[in-house]
Amino acid sequence: MRNAAQLATSALLASGASAQVVQWDIEKRVDTAAPRLRRRAGTTVEEQITNDLMHGGYFASCTVGTPAQKVTLQLDTGSSDIWVPASTSSICQKSTSQGGGCTLGSYDPDKSSSIEVLTDNFKIGYVDGSYSKGDYVSETFGIGNVNVQNVTMGVGLDTDIAYGLVGVGYAYNEASVSQSAQIYNNLPLVLRNDNQTRTAAYSLWLNDLDASKGSILFGGIDTDKYMGDLIRVDVQKDARAEQYTAFTVMMTSMLAHSTSGEDTLSSSSFPIPAVLDSGTTLSYLPQDLAEQIWQEVGATYVAGDQQGSGVPVVPCALANTQNYFTFGFGGKGGPAINVSMTELILPLGGSGTFDSGPFKGQLACQFGIQNSSDDSSYLLGDTFLRSAYVVYDLENNEIALAPTDFNATSTNIVPFPSQAATIPSSTPAPSQNALVSGSTTQPKYAAQSGFTKLGSSSSGSGSGSNSGSGSSGSGNGNAASLTPALDLTQMLVMGASMGLMMVGGGAFLLF
Ligand SMILES: *[C@@H]1O[C@H](CO)[C@@H](O)[C@H](O)[C@H]1NC(C)=O
Ligand SMILES: *[C@@H]1O[C@H](CO)[C@@H](O)[C@H](O)[C@H]1NC(C)=O
Ligand SMILES: *[C@@H]1O[C@H](CO)[C@@H](O)[C@H](O)[C@H]1NC(C)=O
Ligand SMILES: *[C@@H]1O[C@H](CO)[C@@H](O)[C@H](O)[C@H]1NC(C)=O
Ligand SMILES: *[C@@H]1O[C@H](CO)[C@@H](O)[C@H](O)[C@H]1NC(C)=O
Repeated sequence: MRNAAQLATSALLASGASAQVVQWDIEKRVDTAAPRLRRRAGTTVEEQITNDLMHGGYFASCTVGTPAQKVTLQLDTGSSDIWVPASTSSICQKSTSQGGGCTLGSYDPDKSSSIEVLTDNFKIGYVDGSYSKGDYVSETFGIGNVNVQNVTMGVGLDTDIAYGLVGVGYAYNEASVSQSAQIYNNLPLVLRNDNQTRTAAYSLWLNDLDASKGSILFGGIDTDKYMGDLIRVDVQKDARAEQYTAFTVMMTSMLAHSTSGEDTLSSSSFPIPAVLDSGTTLSYLPQDLAEQIWQEVGATYVAGDQQGSGVPVVPCALANTQNYFTFGFGGKGGPAINVSMTELILPLGGSGTFDSGPFKGQLACQFGIQNSSDDSSYLLGDTFLRSAYVVYDLENNEIALAPTDFNATSTNIVPFPSQAATIPSSTPAPSQNALVSGSTTQPKYAAQSGFTKLGSSSSGSGSGSNSGSGSSGSGNGNAASLTPALDLTQMLVMGASMGLMMVGGGAFLLF
């Protein structure tokens, strides 16, 4: 099925003489084996990006150097540098059982004839203390069958992260800006300047948590991958840097919808500046809004052993429902994305169960919306992004959103007609310049009983015993007998994105 769709795309593009788009496919990883590489003829390129739940992100097969060395890199809209771990780095030399081995590939500069070392001051530090440092080099970078020469990237000679990243954010967010006030053309700009695309813009379709395919399309949109209309909102400048540094959009409403009713949730922080970040697994919202969401779904916050490492947990069985939240952007008439419980509930990597309360005996899962106390770090990560088709326009500083068409198999690619053209087939959010500020009005929790009702197919003894509404909010109701076993790599990924995001805010961690 997928092959047919790819062939159709390739035929379409080959026939359109000037259809300038570059597409990578996304494929869910089921293990750590290298994903398959798919090549296509003509002017288009297709490559696998894999949805790796344990690594908490989307990964792409790329090549670096001459001859080409294969590396699988995480696709990250929340950062702006490409970097690859060096084969000589101690983490790649370590065995896999020691958390090393670089099973996603590494890069040996000595084996490449196209390397040119630019500087030795590549350094990225992360919030959790992890890091990568080494050289900035100019190298040949391969996306499927397109090789782009002279791409600036970091080489992690000394790093404690076993895989690299492809950052596709704003150039102003490059690590070099805070290191040496230097800015360079990163991948979206290089693809445009190399005439692989007409403009610095791309569309990201992550697809369903359970699905195996998605794609990133540079230079175009695919109108068969979303429902309804694409609606544009402005990217917000970083206030301190007075620059576009991150894909920050104004989130202006949140609706909880279940079989028992609908609630309009409130936050004193509306309109909420939220960063769209594919490199982050979860979503991070203001405390007051997160608490209302947790109350709706009956989530319990389980404190972690380190500060900030706690997680909200819910019965895994709540994923099998039709209930959803609607995320609204850009005010009245702006894009609205429904995110179903299926997309919001993630395995915890353990077999912890609730040992008391209405969910007693139920298997516990992680809930995908976290709280954040830092108003400069509200993030919408993969738990949100999977439900949206998102077009990132780095030339006009606009983002268009539409509800994703999960598992869509057909393709209708529309390239941007010219540099800095407006996102095709999109309309602007009509009232984004008249945003209403927040309130503290509590919802009636009419949707709560629908959210927390365990289906008849679920195991355990919780079913139907959750009538005492109001006791299941953050903290006290449902004790869960588990140590929150957040996967370490997932934390690394989260830390990475957050660290990079803070560059513009001046809170970048240097070492
Ligand atoms: C890449 O850089 C090298 C060395 O600076 C230069 O000779 C070459 O022409 C450049 N290639 C492209 C495609 O810009
Ligand atoms: C890209 O296309 C423009 C306009 O046709 C041309 O001037 C430029 O040289 C091309 N750049 C490359 C790298 O081929
Ligand atoms: C998408 O496909 C996957 C895998 O076949 C399936 O598990 C999932 O339910 C599908 N999602 C939707 C929304 O149809
Ligand atoms: C999203 O939810 C709203 C509110 O319940 C509903 O009106 C709308 O049809 C839903 N949109 C989609 C695409 O399912
Ligand atoms: C998140 O909320 C929990 C429960 O209210 C609280 O203990 C924790 O400190 C909060 N975390 C952050 C980062 O604000």
